[in-house]
Amino acid sequence: MTVRTAVFPVGGLGTRFLPATKAIPKEMLPVVDRPLVEYAVDEAIASGIERFVFVTGHGKTAIEDHFDHHHELEAALTARGREDLLRSITADLLPPGSVAYVRQMQPLGLGHAVWCARHFVGDEPFAVLLPDDLVHGPAPCLADLVAVHARTGGSVLATMEVDPTETRRYGIVDPASTSDDGVVAVRDLVEKPDPAEAPSTTAIVGRYVLVPEVMAVLGDQERGAGGEIQLTDALRRLLGTSPIHAVPLRGRRYDCGTKLGFLEANVALALERDDLGDVTGVLRDLLDGTPT
Ligand code: G1P
Repeated sequence: MTVRTAVFPVGGLGTRFLPATKAIPKEMLPVVDRPLVEYAVDEAIASGIERFVFVTGHGKTAIEDHFDHHHELEAALTARGREDLLRSITADLLPPGSVAYVRQMQPLGLGHAVWCARHFVGDEPFAVLLPDDLVHGPAPCLADLVAVHARTGGSVLATMEVDPTETRRYGIVDPASTSDDGVVAVRDLVEKPDPAEAPSTTAIVGRYVLVPEVMAVLGDQERGAGGEIQLTDALRRLLGTSPIHAVPLRGRRYDCGTKLGFLEANVALALERDDLGDVTGVLRDLLDGTPT
């Protein structure tokens, strides 16, 4: 069955970016000149997604406004003959009726956020994209997962290798076997283990294709690491009834949930642009301490 629906958990408070995120959702902070959340939405569109469910919370209405028409602004840009800017705010709008917003209402963890989307997901496999993870590669990361899901069924996760000291920041998979194309059959997975207990250094990135049965498991509201309802724990409980595969991500993942990762994403994506002037020269001057 094709994967038509994507869930975007965007309810987090963004405390790591205070005071910037006091009045602005962290998902609206710009990476170069587009809000962070748009990169995940673009990836979903490029992976064949047709329905978009945002799991939001207090102070997140800017996200809804961003994915809607702004008639006053559009009229002003039209009056000024700024077709280029008009296009930049209208070209990527999603079709009416394809976007839904549901409030998480309580900060009970990623598993809870995903569960809040259950009525919109229905009885189909669905995708989850965590916008904090900006994935930039030769092909949309989610499309790789969708392709593997079409072959294997079950749930599919994107993964990357991390330093052994970093396992307690991620869900970590225990690989059973790896096929010729690099796809890993998952034997077990554990959320944020201490390095001494981690079954590997293969970490889950915020891209998933999930079977709808995970919603019933999440409905039990069992608490895991950090006292939160963890998606990783629900997937673990599905093992045995439904397979899980891990796909090493191609390209790079920028952890935009941290200041350094966010800066890294900005610099990396700016370096690829040819409309910003001499980005490399500016960076070189900064690093050399050359006054400009
Ligand atoms: C979440 C997941 C974790 C995953 C990570 C990827 O953690 O729970 O399994 O490895 O995203 O970014 P969070 O970063 O929300 O704590």
